[in-house]
Amino acid sequence: MKILILGVKGMLGQELKHAFLGAEVLAWDFEELDITNEIEVKEKIREQKPDVVINAAAYNNVDKAEIEKNKAVLLNGYALGYIAKACKEAGAIFIHYSTDYVFDGKRKEGYKEMDIPKPVSAYGASKLLGEIETAKNTDKYYIIRLSRLFGKTGDGISVKKSFVDTMLDLAKSKNEIEVIDEELSSPTYAPDLAERTKYIVESKQPFGIYHSAGSGACTWYEFASEIFKQKGADIKVVPVSGDKFPRNALRPKYSVLLNTKLPPMRDWKEVLSNYLAT
Ligand SMILES: NC(=O)c1ccc[n+]([C@@H]2O[C@H](COP(=O)([O-])OP(=O)(O)OC[C@H]3O[C@@H](n4cnc5c(N)ncnc54)[C@H](OP(=O)(O)O)[C@@H]3O)[C@@H](O)[C@H]2O)c1
Repeated sequence: MKILILGVKGMLGQELKHAFLGAEVLAWDFEELDITNEIEVKEKIREQKPDVVINAAAYNNVDKAEIEKNKAVLLNGYALGYIAKACKEAGAIFIHYSTDYVFDGKRKEGYKEMDIPKPVSAYGASKLLGEIETAKNTDKYYIIRLSRLFGKTGDGISVKKSFVDTMLDLAKSKNEIEVIDEELSSPTYAPDLAERTKYIVESKQPFGIYHSAGSGACTWYEFASEIFKQKGADIKVVPVSGDKFPRNALRPKYSVLLNTKLPPMRDWKEVLSNYLAT
């Protein structure tokens, strides 16, 4: 099986490369293929004839997307149509990642795979467009939604640190921090998501949408408190409301991704301890 990974220098991309060690893998980032270049996408995928294309490249700056809407729409939206079309022509399976931010966050009980998306931010809208463009242009696709990714920071130029690493950095210089005690969602560990992706392909799951976030859920405050507790860091965490930190983009208040199709992922607290031990 020949696998083409796009966005391999990102947090998830690097773990995908690791998960598929032993397979025939082409590991590409922006330098090898700019996914917003429709002609290049078509030509390079046709040339390589992969069996599976996995796209981990994305525009991930939620607040900046409010001012850079066109950039987000192209990279998270239309580019997915280019890849999906090229995959269809090459007969390749297409795997793409989306987000809990496609939902409006009003369902306290969480969202199933087939619930109707209704984004409340430009980022969420651009990711939803990517889902639509994927499904419009090929039948052989997996869209895997995740939330709050954490793991080793990627090597790309535009990649950002995860919330976990940001909190650990803050703990070096502060005795007390305020953290928003809102936005219930499930942290997802990048190596687990990469393994889950491998499982979905290798076990030939039916094509469609999958929810693959870590089991359990927390607010940002609960997430930070658990990080410091596990790390034994001497820092006071103060819960505050979202109004205390005005941000450009709205976030869903409740966006737990309910996984109704596959075995549960590992609990976020358990995988957090794995990550902190690395
Ligand atoms: N991070 C999260 O919390 C989160 C939450 C929900 C969903 N997701 C989704 O999960 C997936 C993986 O996210 P991630 O956090 O691993 O991303 P990431 O660390 O930001 O990595 C994205 C990669 O894509 C590359 N890239 C950017 N523009 C490109 C282009 N035009 N052509 C080719 N490559 C390009 C970047 O390279 P440069 O840096 O060099 O530009 C980078 O290596 C994405 O679909 C994301 O939307 C992430």
